[in-house]
Amino acid sequence: MFRRGNKPLFLWRSVRNFHLPSIAAVLGLVIFISLLFSLCSRENPAKGESSRAHETKRLQFQVLPNPTVEYIEEAQVIWQIPSDPKAVLFIAHGCGGSALNFWDSCLGCPNCVGLPEEKRIVLDALAQNLAVLVVTSTDVCWSYRKDGSRVKKTIQWWLEKHDLVKSPLVGLGASSGGYFLSVLATEVRFRGIVLMISSGLFDRMVSIPDNYPPTLFLHMPKDVRRGRKIDRHVEMLRKKGIEVQKIECLEFPLTPIWLTDRVTDLNHTTSLKLFELFSSKGFIDAKGYMKNDGRATPWREALKQSNILLKYESKLMHHIEEELNLAYAYHEMTSLQSDQMFKWFKSHL
Ligand SMILES: *[C@@H]1O[C@H](CO)[C@@H](O)[C@H](O)[C@H]1NC(C)=O
Repeated sequence: MFRRGNKPLFLWRSVRNFHLPSIAAVLGLVIFISLLFSLCSRENPAKGESSRAHETKRLQFQVLPNPTVEYIEEAQVIWQIPSDPKAVLFIAHGCGGSALNFWDSCLGCPNCVGLPEEKRIVLDALAQNLAVLVVTSTDVCWSYRKDGSRVKKTIQWWLEKHDLVKSPLVGLGASSGGYFLSVLATEVRFRGIVLMISSGLFDRMVSIPDNYPPTLFLHMPKDVRRGRKIDRHVEMLRKKGIEVQKIECLEFPLTPIWLTDRVTDLNHTTSLKLFELFSSKGFIDAKGYMKNDGRATPWREALKQSNILLKYESKLMHHIEEELNLAYAYHEMTSLQSDQMFKWFKSHL
């Protein structure tokens, strides 16, 4: 583990003693840290001015994304612990997701792909001094039969290994991960869980335990059917005396610079061109709102027929689509409610 707190002390001592090997060590360390910064940096230097305000708050607490990838019982586990962890956040992704989506590609995780919303959630968590533990599901979606006991053991083993057993544990599950987490919380002691774009499986439980953790639903109300189910589950939990809250995530208009703000490696010019393309094809309305979900919009075809060039093209497709889905606000991972979510977590530690 790379702990920021120890670094200045070590540097200071080495410089004072002025031994050649120490200087070499210091130089090595400096090069290593610079490499970490450059390889894991989430800031795109080519970004426009307007994006800066949005990111200012995050920069105040800049934490180096530097995860560790492990395989525990054949399952991929990616984690990062800040220097002074106040709690542990377990995250379960949605169908087709992976722990690799939660960090940018960097030394600790060269295969990471850093999807815009996922990686922001992790950076926000680290900035709030939460250790983050993300596990990849066995199949495309979570199955309690296949993943339940495995994840339970993994969490326990990991907490013991890192001396975090006494730290409060909180959970975030998105979509399929939300269903999974809602059941996991009957067997693992969480202080609070957030079910993102997921109603949980409360209607399938024989009974909800009396000590079930406080639950926060992060819901996109455009998904009316899921919304009705969430309302029923909110009632069920309240009747049991379990604290429940619901936050609604609404659609918002895209702007010409939205994509460059959110997607690393997508520059200002390309963002403008994409916005113009989507407008001219009628994918977004006059105010900038997506007319349909990104998955149901033939934007990839339109892009192929256009002369817009994208660096790392195939890599960015998933990133762009995530942002289009988010703007449409029907069913997507979201970091836009991070402030409220982490405030809620903190009030339950
Ligand atoms: C923006 O990115 C595209 C490819 O992704 C590239 O062709 C273009 O030169 C870049 N523009 C600027 C101003 O960096």
